[in-house]
Amino acid sequence: MDLDAFRQLLTPRGQEALKAAAEVVDDDPVTAVTRLRRSHDAGLTSAALTQATLRARAAGKFGADAELMYFTRAGLEQATRREVADHRARRMAPDSLVADVCCGVGGDLLALARAGCAVEAVDADPLTAAIARANADALGLGDRVSVRTADAATVDPSAFDVLFADPARRTARGRTFDPMAYSPPWPEVLEMVARSRAACLKVAPGIPHGFVPGGAEAEWVSYRGEVKEAVIWCGGLAGGGGRRATMLPSGATMTPDPALGRAEHGPVGRYVYEPDGAAIRAHLVAEVAALVGGRLIDPQVAYITGDVAARTPWASGYEVHEVLPFSLKRLRAALRERGVGNATIKKRASAVDVDRLRKDLRLSGDQSATVILTRIRERPFALICTPF
Ligand SMILES: C[S@@+](CC[C@H](N)C(=O)[O-])C[C@H]1O[C@@H](n2cnc3c(N)ncnc32)[C@H](O)[C@@H]1O
Repeated sequence: MDLDAFRQLLTPRGQEALKAAAEVVDDDPVTAVTRLRRSHDAGLTSAALTQATLRARAAGKFGADAELMYFTRAGLEQATRREVADHRARRMAPDSLVADVCCGVGGDLLALARAGCAVEAVDADPLTAAIARANADALGLGDRVSVRTADAATVDPSAFDVLFADPARRTARGRTFDPMAYSPPWPEVLEMVARSRAACLKVAPGIPHGFVPGGAEAEWVSYRGEVKEAVIWCGGLAGGGGRRATMLPSGATMTPDPALGRAEHGPVGRYVYEPDGAAIRAHLVAEVAALVGGRLIDPQVAYITGDVAARTPWASGYEVHEVLPFSLKRLRAALRERGVGNATIKKRASAVDVDRLRKDLRLSGDQSATVILTRIRERPFALICTPF
């Protein structure tokens, strides 16, 4: 969809096409196109059907709002899920003037406006910026938002209460995990932070801790057990600085316990725990181990073990039935003996190709188990467990 086609969608004729597309989006593509073409030209038919498909896909991230919003495929993929954007927006003082310098289709922009902030947004891509504008209008937030097509570098962060930046992590070759390859690149983002009073940066959860500026707080956020992002809070929003892990939707949050040293390690006990990914990324595994009264199974690996079944939202717990030095033959025999036809395979610090292993195991039986592949003191092990 180009900018002209998108503008067509915003006209009364375009809105009619969108309505018609929503009614046929679940039909097979040929039927859907044929029905829309009876009343609309090819360009509008294509734009409206694409939009209807993207809206259906976006419901997972934006709930009912998705039915009113506009997307590009890339814009939807990069947009922040509503619950995560709302979580961040709650930390800003209402009425703050915020510069969103990479606004995309507006996932964060909308959350900030809903939280009461006034937002001046830019995006380098004209179509994306037009969509962000349309989304703010569609959700009744247009009076708190301005959007223009511009490079982030044209924004003066010192004119705002808060700088918000969610740099693009895609390059021509796909996703990048290297902050130097973000757009704008990390040094440019940090230069803007240096000129801001307070800043909030959304980055990939794998960002090396060394990239976090001194004095900032780095918060790793998971949503329903999946780590979504790291947020770097700077200046007036940094609180006391340091590391934090937060789980959504509960909002449970954890910071380092200064009384704890490094987590102890020791032999595999009756139970094994896998900490929430946000706690792992935030290097708070010792804190989770303390919560379950456990120890690490290896000093370098984020699996915890213990002798009592402890429940905490910060870790999934498993009862261990067998600990095997890893070999395909031994694991296959052990699972056969237990009649395991359905295995969830997890791994950490293991080079095993899980898809290949699953095929090679040729599972059969009516029992279920979780197989944990890991390394204990440099040797590969498989733990046969069940969740409790
Ligand atoms: C990760 S997306 C932002 C997603 C947004 N926070 C949301 O929730 O919808 C990054 C956006 O930055 C834009 N961008 C990349 N480089 C830019 C630059 N130098 N200046 C302004 N925008 C830029 C891209 O066009 C893309 O839309």
